[in-house]
Amino acid sequence: MTILVTGGAGYIGSHICVELLQHGYEVVVVDNLSNSSFESIKRVKAITGKDMKFYQIDILEQEKLDLVFSENTIEGVIHLAGLKVVGESVQNPLQYYKNNLIGTLVLCEVMDKYNVKKMVFSSSATVYGIPKKVPISEDFSLGATNPYGRTKLMVEEVLRDYYISNHNWSIVILRYFNPIGAHPSGKIGEDPSGIPNNLMPYVTQVAVGKLKELTVFGNDYPTVDGTGVRDYIHIVDLAKGHMKALEKTMTSKGIEVYNLGTGIGYSVLEIIAAFEKVSGRKIPYKFAERRAGDIAICYANPLKAKIDLGWIAKRGIEEMCADSWNWQSKNMNGYS
Ligand code: NAD
Ligand code: WQD
Repeated sequence: MTILVTGGAGYIGSHICVELLQHGYEVVVVDNLSNSSFESIKRVKAITGKDMKFYQIDILEQEKLDLVFSENTIEGVIHLAGLKVVGESVQNPLQYYKNNLIGTLVLCEVMDKYNVKKMVFSSSATVYGIPKKVPISEDFSLGATNPYGRTKLMVEEVLRDYYISNHNWSIVILRYFNPIGAHPSGKIGEDPSGIPNNLMPYVTQVAVGKLKELTVFGNDYPTVDGTGVRDYIHIVDLAKGHMKALEKTMTSKGIEVYNLGTGIGYSVLEIIAAFEKVSGRKIPYKFAERRAGDIAICYANPLKAKIDLGWIAKRGIEEMCADSWNWQSKNMNGYS
């Protein structure tokens, strides 16, 4: 069975490709490499000892995407292609709406033309906006606080409307919490361009000496130690969640949404402590003002995915930190 992975050269996509190949699927990747490199594709092949097809295509280019569907018998799509930097989306909203929203519309049109009706979509916990309480369940009210988040919310709505118009579709929307870690081989991992925006790649680049110190955004939140609390999830657990979601699209029609998180929140200082413990490296840090748009606490209620998909996150925070460190220390400059 052949699965198309859009954005398959990226951080999450490369780990999903490993899982797909190891589960016996044929894999076709479409990626414009705007935020990734072909090296990740080579490394996925090296880890699995299996081949997969790669097309360097922008999903906005409908004719080229059409060709991918005509050349391959695609049964389902895992749709990850998208831009994901919150601050950048505030600076350049049109680029985000075009890429994330229009890109998805183009993909759905081509899927429809080729009668491909199974999709797993990469949404985000960001669609919960500022949650009234934690843990966050799928039925909480939704609301984004920035253009990036709104693209995810809009795509969720588009997919719901599309299902209403055609009950033969089978769609699973996954709302990821904070993916970190890397494949235990250390061959693939997160490779942000420029200065990292997210906590873990910043920490690993401090540990490896590329950055001087971490800035901790805010120490006056109503949390265990005043720093922000998040639900960090190991990238391999996240990728395995996609296998379960894909199986769901194979066995039933409908549209469902699931949180992919551990259900446990860790503060920034707890992450630093866990990372220092497993890496043996000191992470110098300083406190600064809260980062605009950040919330105090965010963690999932992952029960629905456990009940419906039979999925739970198994890897703990030290394993996440150890695998992030393993990747960064073996790949000082990422894939380049
Ligand atoms: P990533 O940037 O590493 O991967 C996204 C991939 O999509 C990249 O390889 C990029 O080159 C590709 N891409 C972007 N626009 C494209 C287009 N128009 N056509 C073809 N390819 C395109 O990011 P990631 O962390 O792997 O995230 C994957 C998806 O998961 C994204 O949609 C992101 O919004 C979503 N997500 C990520 C996180 C996170 O914290 N990493 C959390 C929640 C949701
Ligand atoms: C985690 C914690 C920061 C960097 C973002 C997106 C979200 C989703 C996941 C895609 C917070 C603190 C961070 C630093 C710090 N992505 N921090 N110093 O903001 O929870 O979520 O990535 O969908 O949409 O918003 O993740 O890793 O940036 O921050 O103190 O240099 O670390 O304040 O408390 P976030 P993050």
